[in-house]
Amino acid sequence: MAITRRKALLSAGSVLAGAALDLPKTTAAPQADLPASTVSLGDFELLARERMTAMAWEYISGGAGDELTLRWNREAYDRIKLKPRVLVDVSRLDTRVNLFGRELPLPILLAPAAYQKLVHADGELATAKGAGAAIMVVSTMASVSIEDIAATTKQPPWFQLYVQPDRGFTKALVQRAEAAGCQALVVTVDTPIPGLRNREERIKFALPPGIERPNLKGLSTAGSSHLPKENEIYNALFDARLTWKDVEWLRSLTKLPVLLKGVLNPDDADLAVKSGAAGVIVSNHGSRNIDTLPATIEALPAVAAKIAGRIPVLVDGGIRRGTDVLKALALGAKAVLIGRPYLYGLGVGGADGVNRVVGILRREFEMAMALTGRTSIAELGESALWQSQQEKNR
Ligand code: FNR
Ligand code: LAC
Repeated sequence: MAITRRKALLSAGSVLAGAALDLPKTTAAPQADLPASTVSLGDFELLARERMTAMAWEYISGGAGDELTLRWNREAYDRIKLKPRVLVDVSRLDTRVNLFGRELPLPILLAPAAYQKLVHADGELATAKGAGAAIMVVSTMASVSIEDIAATTKQPPWFQLYVQPDRGFTKALVQRAEAAGCQALVVTVDTPIPGLRNREERIKFALPPGIERPNLKGLSTAGSSHLPKENEIYNALFDARLTWKDVEWLRSLTKLPVLLKGVLNPDDADLAVKSGAAGVIVSNHGSRNIDTLPATIEALPAVAAKIAGRIPVLVDGGIRRGTDVLKALALGAKAVLIGRPYLYGLGVGGADGVNRVVGILRREFEMAMALTGRTSIAELGESALWQSQQEKNR
């Protein structure tokens, strides 16, 4: 009985939120060749560990240093409790959100992730097929070209930029992404140098033959001649000189909205607005760079307060349940991104696996809305949480 009611409720929501769009299915039955045991994002992680090469597993699942922040990213969500309302008519759910003039049926995007051919022969093309209505943010370090990905996704993708030491190349890359039809430029600002990854070091992580970076084709290392050669913390693919001045330069290269990914400090959030950024993504890079940063959901409220609605704030890191999505929105995010979960979906079941991961999260988010008595995203504020930030700080 309960299941039947839920199904009815979910399909009502789906009709409203995504009628014309190819949304992932919300039914519980997995696609043909996905194991029936994959009913949660955690199930995909368990299965991915069995199926991936050790090299891919260490690269994707690993975090920086002692992986404390990696754990905190998740645990911080687990500590937040929900505050439901009852006797609210939840027979119609509206999960739509508007970002940069575009209506998304769901506030969930796929975070940029490098080298997806590590886990599936089609790599990013399979993700592009499986993403359905979720916007895919394509990494500079993708193992498929931005043009091929943009020709495959249902929704135009966004492009994640690692500014290259060669600024002429960087400019051409931004123009390539815009010409390919990307709808936003996500500049990653938390990685002037690569992070501390002991698990990759232990397994001697290296790209297997055949995995390339087509977005960086033609890049010469000439632009990195300023890097002190004797210091191995630098890497020619990241730009250790990137500063706020460059944000204005980046804006001048494109008509696309420019988001800054990797903002945690409210003072930086304020500078982001002042430098004309169209949005910020509160992120600690899935805790892959430096350990003992706070969990992103812990950093979000102060960033959102500082930005005070001037530009949209997005968040990623540790989102594994529909209730996590609801909590992030309640604390001021306009939308969320997921990273590792869809890579596990890709590794387990290619495009179907990615689609299933998004579908599971969508269904869980819809259930979280209905079961807390909220029918639209606009109703998701601190009133949906058991303890408000103010109460917490007391
Ligand atoms: C990433 N991330 C990332 N970020 C970015 O800006 N450019 C990139 O190329 C990559 N590459 C990448 C590879 C892999 C394997 C992972 C797991 C992550 C970070 C990513 O966009 C996002 O911030 C985190 O993954 C979010 O945390 P969760 O959802 O993985 O916990
Ligand atoms: C990573 C880089 C590529 O997180 O962003 O692996």
